[in-house]
Amino acid sequence: MKKKKRQIKKIPCIIAAVVLIILGILIYKFISDILYKRTYDYKLLQKGYKEEEIVYLKENYTDKLDDFLNIDYEEYVIPILKEKYFLWKNFKTYLEYIKEKPDKKQEEIIREVNIGTYQPFYTNAKEADTTKEYALLVNKYNFLSSDYEPVDLVRANGQYTFSNNQYMRQEVYSAFTDMFFAAKEEGLTLLINSSYRNYENQQKAYKDYEDAGGKSYADRYAARPGFSEHQTGLTLDIFTPEFPTTSTFHLSKEYTWLTTNAHKYGFILRYPEGKEKITGFSYEAWHYRYLGVELATKVYESGLTYDEYYAYYLDN
Ligand code: DAL
Ligand code: ZN
Repeated sequence: MKKKKRQIKKIPCIIAAVVLIILGILIYKFISDILYKRTYDYKLLQKGYKEEEIVYLKENYTDKLDDFLNIDYEEYVIPILKEKYFLWKNFKTYLEYIKEKPDKKQEEIIREVNIGTYQPFYTNAKEADTTKEYALLVNKYNFLSSDYEPVDLVRANGQYTFSNNQYMRQEVYSAFTDMFFAAKEEGLTLLINSSYRNYENQQKAYKDYEDAGGKSYADRYAARPGFSEHQTGLTLDIFTPEFPTTSTFHLSKEYTWLTTNAHKYGFILRYPEGKEKITGFSYEAWHYRYLGVELATKVYESGLTYDEYYAYYLDN
């Protein structure tokens, strides 16, 4: 009898315990739910990102996850991030440009935004960063002021040139003479036809083309004044007596030699064949740009034009 009474007393205690446990579980679930909804995992899932994409973002963009919450989810967002020459500073512009040109390859989207060609040539041009010294980039988006003149121009000795009065920066001259003698040892002759051109000289050069064939013709072959590498004093037009013209130089042994040796002396072929849309100029087998041996070798080995190389590796 006594035992039964004790059992009856126990029942409310058990019920209370069960209720407490259930309540505890509910509160725990409620709080965990609130906390989970505050996580990036939840917010990114809600945005449309897939689980593996969230893992990728958390691993590679930990401090930028808010930026991904502020843009619309699109299937191409993660693939864009994985492109070889992706630059974070251009991320938003890539996305805008993809919307504008949905059929363009992602690789091209990245390249065009990086170097500026997603906008027409000569659009949004800015003053070139002359503090970059021999790495200075001058192209259709980066110009030199009309009074820019390199500090250490020297006049080349007549044995290295087709005509008198060829000026270039001192280090360029020294590198060219080394290259000249290396080529000479192989029975080849490299001669300079054009080198430093000041703003006014470039104006004349451009106008000659414009008079001959109009503006769009001129823009393929000559830079507008201020936008020419020749004003840097770091550029040489090189020919050889047997093939002294722009339409024949690429057929010479000298040209073939330059294609595999110029970088060893610090020069790169600045406007390669097939890269007109990138450089903005038609193929110029004769136009060599001095960068210094180390940088010229890196650019040569990268297989990139200097516009692309500079945008990705040097413009920071
Ligand atoms: N011919 C090259 C592009 C220049 O005018 O600078
Ligand atoms: Zn040139």
